[in-house]
Amino acid sequence: MLNRADKSAGFAIGAALVLFFIGGTLTTVIPPLVDKSWGRPFENHDPSKGPTGKLRPYTELEKHGLAIYTREGCWYCHTQQTRTLVADTKRSGWRGVDSPISTPDEFVYDQPHMFGTKRTGPDLSRVGGKYNTQWHRTHFRNPRDLTPGSVMPPFPWIANDEGEFQALLAYIQRLGRAKDWRPDGDYEQ
Ligand code: HEC
Repeated sequence: MLNRADKSAGFAIGAALVLFFIGGTLTTVIPPLVDKSWGRPFENHDPSKGPTGKLRPYTELEKHGLAIYTREGCWYCHTQQTRTLVADTKRSGWRGVDSPISTPDEFVYDQPHMFGTKRTGPDLSRVGGKYNTQWHRTHFRNPRDLTPGSVMPPFPWIANDEGEFQALLAYIQRLGRAKDWRPDGDYEQ
């Protein structure tokens, strides 16, 4: 068969398409059929869980923050998906408690979504409430003041523009908050 693919371009393309189709089906169509929890997008829509346990649409301020996040290319370096890996749940964890993995319902209001692919910096899917306002201001002004050797570039034009800073901060502090997973609702403001 390999011999035939070597000699016939049509056969090689046909075989590649068939293999691609099988791979696509196995990774996109089969999983939601096996795990039904994927099809329940609003599992976190529970106001009784308080302000942090509730998935809600973006406020105007947060939308502005998302636009800045997009404009500045934060997503070149940061992902927003806690994978099923222990390293991820530990890294996104908080005071000894592992963070939950990302689930589809958390992203229903993201337009465009900011999953990202390149993990030059840490994943930000659970960063909301991890640091306070002052930390973020200092970090945007110059990341190396807080993390020596950081390759994150300084964003002084954000740190020094109160409107932009507050918008981006609102967006960052929202990330990962739909799941109320931290012990005692312990969040930095
Ligand atoms: C060139 C890659 C790069 C870009 C672009 C970048 N970052 Fe970072 N970021 C990093 C790296 C590396 C770190 C880890 C070291 C540090 O804390 O500075 C980091 C850390 C962070 C942290 C702390 C995460 C944690 O869990 O400790 C936040 C929040 C953050 N970045 C937000 C942003 C935002 C918002 C933008 C866009 C305005 C941005 N970053 C752009 C590379 C980048």
